[in-house]
Order: sequence, then C-alpha cells, then structure tokens
Amino acid sequence: MNRRYRKTIIAGNWKMNKTATETKALVEDVKQRVAKSKWCEVVLCVPFVDIPAAVRQTKDCRIAIGAQNLHEEVSGAYTGEISGAMLKDLGVKYVIIGHSERRQYFGETDQTVAKKVGAALDAGLKAIVCVGETLAQRDMDVTMELIALQVKSALNAVPTTEELKRIVFAYEPVWAIGTGRTATAEQAAEVCTFIRALIRKKYGARAARGVTIQYGGSMNAQNADELLAQLDVDGGLIGGASLKPEDFAAIVQAANQ
Ligand code: PGA
Repeated sequence: MNRRYRKTIIAGNWKMNKTATETKALVEDVKQRVAKSKWCEVVLCVPFVDIPAAVRQTKDCRIAIGAQNLHEEVSGAYTGEISGAMLKDLGVKYVIIGHSERRQYFGETDQTVAKKVGAALDAGLKAIVCVGETLAQRDMDVTMELIALQVKSALNAVPTTEELKRIVFAYEPVWAIGTGRTATAEQAAEVCTFIRALIRKKYGARAARGVTIQYGGSMNAQNADELLAQLDVDGGLIGGASLKPEDFAAIVQAANQ
C-alpha cells in the first residue's frame, strides 16, 4: 500500500451467507473490533436482503456497506434483478462487479461487467471491479493478456479521471479464491503493478496512482501483512475470513500498520 496517494480499503465479501437477523450481530461484532480503524476504509459487501440491517447497524460509524452485484439497466422488466438506484437509495456506497463466481456461474462476461460498471457510476456508487485468471490460464502463461483484456474492457465504461476516482480494482486469481491457496506477495504485486500501468496508459500517472487496487483470494490474518507490504497492493477483498470477526479485524489491523 501507499497511503500517500490512495486509500487502503479492506472489504468483506460475505457471498451468500447470513440472514438479515444474523447480519445485525455479525456487523455489531465487526464494528466493535474495527471501530478504531484509522488509516484504512472498511467495507462490508453483504447479500441484498441484508443491506437494510447492515446500514442501520453502521449508522454511527465509518464502516461502509456494499452490495455484491447490480443489474446493468436502470429499471424495467428484469424480474428478480436489482438496480444501482435501488442500492444507492438504501445507503449502499460500493458494489462488487464481475466477481469470478458471477463470471463462472452466472455467465457474466467482460461486456456485461463493463455495462455494470457504467450503471454503478451512473447511480453514484463506487465499483469494486474484480479481475483474475484461472489456474489453467496461469499455467498457459496468459495471465497478463487476460488481465489486460478484463481491465481495459471495464475501463471502457470509465470516460474520465473524474469517474476513475470511484473505481477500485480487485485482483483475484481464481485459483486462490476459497482454496486456502494464496498468491505469493510477489505474484500479487506483479499483477497489481501491471493493472496500475494499464490505468496509467489511459488516464496518466497522476490519476493512476490514486486508484486503490486490492488483492483477494484466501487473504487472512497470517498473510495480510506481507501482501499489504507491497506498494501496489492497497487492500483486500476478503471472502471466508470476513465471516469471522476476529480474523477480519486482524486483517484490518494489518492494513492500519
Ligand atoms: P476468499 O474469497 O477470501 O474466501 O478466498 C475472496 C473473494 O472471493 O472475494
């Protein structure tokens, strides 16, 4: 991380876990433990139906609430979907876009991801855009090409440096998500630095150094220090460990060092 130029952000991704009733207790527990997070922004990305409870529970603190997806259209006949305006109205600040589970199980492509990034920006939300390669792609040595495609495609929806201020990238190697197998600090740094270089090419050095780039994939209390020590790793997107308040708080603490 490099706090001089950009925010450090630790975001929890609860995925499809916890009812609204359970949310109240879990958020309260996290809140008690991270209340003093001085240097890093804490975000909890919860299931849609848990948003009201999470927003209510964090009213008097600096924890921000995020969603895990949104629909690319503003409104209309899209049964079962949720728009950016609906999220914004509930007090949501961030939305995760293009998580690998959305790409893998729900058919999201670079094109839909770009549309969703545009929708999030239009609704006044901040987007956490996920990119990352599968193990097969890493083994075939096409990681950088793949990341470049994903990043450039998402940035097509970001016209100027003004909108770029509301974009966060999360580098999440698919082989590291939920597997207990973390990327080494060097692997994470290499890709995060590469992502910043892509941003620099399009928007210039000044804008690029202000963008938060997270690492995600089995980040935990033990490996957070080393990952966050990398200059271009500005935080984490935390799955499993975000459901364990003690572990999540330890990661937040590492980000505050
Ligand atoms: P994990 O998930 O921390 O459980 O690996 C990260 C993510 O999917 O965002």
